[in-house]
Amino acid sequence: MRGGGGGGWAVLVVLAGVAAVTAVEYTNQFAVVVAGGRERAARAAAKHGCSLVDSIGDLTDHYLFECHTVHKRSTQHSRHHTDRLRETDEILWADQQYYKTRRKRDGAGDGGGLTEELLNEISDSGPSAAGPLRRATLKEDPPPAPQEPPPQTEFRRSTAADYWPDPLFKEQWYLNGGARDGSDMNVLPAWQQGYRGQGVVVSILDDGIQPNHPDLAANYDGRASLDINDDDDDPTPRDDGFNRHGTRCAGEVAAIAGNQYCGVGVAPNASIGGVRMLDGGVNDYVEAKALSYRRNYIDVYSASWGPEDDGKTVDGPGPLARRAFIEGVLKGRGGKGSIFVWASGNGGRYVDNCNCDGYTNSIFTLSISSATQGGKKPWYLEECASTLATTYSSGTSASAPLAAGIIALTLGANPNLTWRDMQYITLMTSRPEPLAHELGWLTNGVGRKVSHKFGYGLMDAGAMVDLARRWHTVPTQHICITPLDSRTRRIPAEEGGELHTSMEVNACQGSPQSVNFLEHVQCKVTLTHVPRGGLRILLSSPSGTVSTLLFERPQDVLGSSFDRWPFMSVHFWGERPEGVWNLTVVNTKAAASAGTSSSDSVLKEWQLILYGTEQEPVHLTPAEQGTGSDAGAGHSAVVSRSEDSSPGVYCSRSCVLACQSQPAADMCKRCRDHYESPCQRWCDPGTYYGGEAGCQPCHATCATCLGRLANQCMDCAAGHYLIADLSVCVPACPDGYFTANETCQSCGPHCTACDGSANHCVSCAPHLFLHNSQCVASCPAGTYRLQQRSVGR
Ligand SMILES: *[C@@H]1O[C@H](CO)[C@@H](O)[C@H](O)[C@H]1NC(C)=O
Ligand SMILES: *[C@@H]1O[C@H](CO)[C@@H](O)[C@H](O)[C@H]1NC(C)=O
Ligand SMILES: *[C@@H]1O[C@H](CO)[C@@H](O)[C@H](O)[C@H]1NC(C)=O
Ligand SMILES: *[C@@H]1O[C@H](CO)[C@@H](O)[C@H](O)[C@H]1NC(C)=O
Repeated sequence: MRGGGGGGWAVLVVLAGVAAVTAVEYTNQFAVVVAGGRERAARAAAKHGCSLVDSIGDLTDHYLFECHTVHKRSTQHSRHHTDRLRETDEILWADQQYYKTRRKRDGAGDGGGLTEELLNEISDSGPSAAGPLRRATLKEDPPPAPQEPPPQTEFRRSTAADYWPDPLFKEQWYLNGGARDGSDMNVLPAWQQGYRGQGVVVSILDDGIQPNHPDLAANYDGRASLDINDDDDDPTPRDDGFNRHGTRCAGEVAAIAGNQYCGVGVAPNASIGGVRMLDGGVNDYVEAKALSYRRNYIDVYSASWGPEDDGKTVDGPGPLARRAFIEGVLKGRGGKGSIFVWASGNGGRYVDNCNCDGYTNSIFTLSISSATQGGKKPWYLEECASTLATTYSSGTSASAPLAAGIIALTLGANPNLTWRDMQYITLMTSRPEPLAHELGWLTNGVGRKVSHKFGYGLMDAGAMVDLARRWHTVPTQHICITPLDSRTRRIPAEEGGELHTSMEVNACQGSPQSVNFLEHVQCKVTLTHVPRGGLRILLSSPSGTVSTLLFERPQDVLGSSFDRWPFMSVHFWGERPEGVWNLTVVNTKAAASAGTSSSDSVLKEWQLILYGTEQEPVHLTPAEQGTGSDAGAGHSAVVSRSEDSSPGVYCSRSCVLACQSQPAADMCKRCRDHYESPCQRWCDPGTYYGGEAGCQPCHATCATCLGRLANQCMDCAAGHYLIADLSVCVPACPDGYFTANETCQSCGPHCTACDGSANHCVSCAPHLFLHNSQCVASCPAGTYRLQQRSVGR
């Protein structure tokens, strides 16, 4: 939470004085489920000497009781009172709330299906043995490592750098082409098309936000804000110098553009709120309340926190937070599903793995990783198979709010998108190329490049809005749960020893849950091994994609088991699931053994949960004549299967830019013809696709060109002005244009030359007369015709 602009950094431990505390601290608060309304819940509370103090966000029928016969703080679980509540007819479920500073999770994560039946099952299943409470750790970006190489910034997109006058916009390298090789998150094309997040509501779940911040105030949305820590509506952070994180995150999403303060947000017209929840004790109730708060009003929740990233914790959401996720995707945003954006973790220095974090590991969250300005892995990055995509964020701030901003732009382009549509669009448009300097990219069974560090690559706002406009909602999600393989198998004791096991999967063919096109895959694993951190677990699909579900974690020396832990991978997306899946458990001995014998080192059971669709999921509206665009799509899975039904392949950066600015341009079809599908090659900005010759440099007058024609400019080299409607860069604007902000803009319809603005005419079309810098058809009363300003040139 420290940090401001300077990059000072500390992991924030949210609960006070926790370092040495390991005991669970129970409270007199109980989460309960009572059907039939608040009054019935209040009566049930009174019956037990409790008061109804709160409902829990928008969770259906969930309430918080405070029970006066129970100690406010105790190390003892009040089993007696919990049982009494549970035995009451009208109380369907009850769970005592407690704070706990360190917890090894041995319960199941999410993994339930998405039907009301499953919801009920989940809500009836009672509290899990592993309780809901934890302390949260802020995932604030540490400063870049000292050895970070300076980015190469030979090429900068001049128009982008000058697009906003805000004084710090020039420093926002991740928005203005300032990363290595002129890369950025390609937000400019989205802005240029008018997508600025207007009408989209984002809330930052953090340590509060400052409503009156001059660069946020006009976008601040009190309806998307709440203070859970002090139980009021004002999310203003406690002003002790340590609670700036939420406000910074809010600025990254929605700082106002076009003013004289600071920089700009990714979605500078989005409504922004904050839930203050990290400046106090965090428990399941607090998390669930935040995650379900006004779920029909808030579109996107951005969270940059989770269990401790210490390389040894295995922890996830408790029963209420899990329910908040499930209800959120089912009921939030009017049934289209809340969008939960999650930072994937900062435990890199402890060699943590974000697949041990049940929040990023969840199928309901968009888990976002970070890349440095040089396109590299920051030293704090955690690798895991559940990361979907990446934003640039090193040295600036968290990756989640930048992603939340891009998602706000995308929802602006198509508010109908569901939570799953958003995941598809994110992974289909993310770009591996700017991050190709890091090793570790694999190509999955549908030809997409994916990495444990970066998921599918760097998010691309321009391509996302473009694809969003043409998107049709994906078919119903199917969930196919394979039989449990519970044959106990020994994990070899020797270093490097591998346990191999495989499972023949029919993907529920012939049942109502058949899956033919994969989305997420969860692999629930139960095993014991000391030290747990010495294991590496890999899963391979019938297509041959090998995804590492768990890397060894040297710090995890005391952990000894996974108990139905749902490791999640997004690497198989688009593949067909039928066939043989192999699970490999490798004993790397990477963690020092805690001296225990390995006699009980066994894989006890494993099971796959396959999420996906029965039907081809991706259908795109063809590029419309005149308004659509022909690029930015590229669902390579679909393209490779049904080449002709897909109108465009996202294969060249300049192709996307071209089609966004010039819908009729045909170069995208051309590049589709010329590149193998699925596309894996790109022409960088500053180059264009020159057919056989490959990527060729643009004409010297252009900074970025559109493709095919070197001098068809998207924006201009220094000292040139862009005539946007002709895509030409010139050293001086010709007649009929005036000069404004490095572009040549057309004079008004009747002026043949103008000065300073479109309507400040200095010469007029034939038969018109110049009067007070206007071109008029006849001389007004009281004036006389001096000279006909017809163009005689
Ligand atoms: C976006 O915000 C700016 C600055 O507050 C405002 O001038 C502009 O009208 C807004 N645009 C839209 C489309 O809401
Ligand atoms: C969103 O849905 C509405 C109603 O079905 C439809 O009219 C509209 O065209 C859709 N918008 C987009 C961008 O798909
Ligand atoms: C899975 O295991 C089987 C049997 O050991 C092997 O033949 C097959 O090649 C493996 N598949 C992959 C993708 O590694
Ligand atoms: C040029 O940019 C300034 C802000 O930088 C803006 O106020 C002005 O309207 C722009 N002029 C034109 C003609 O777009």
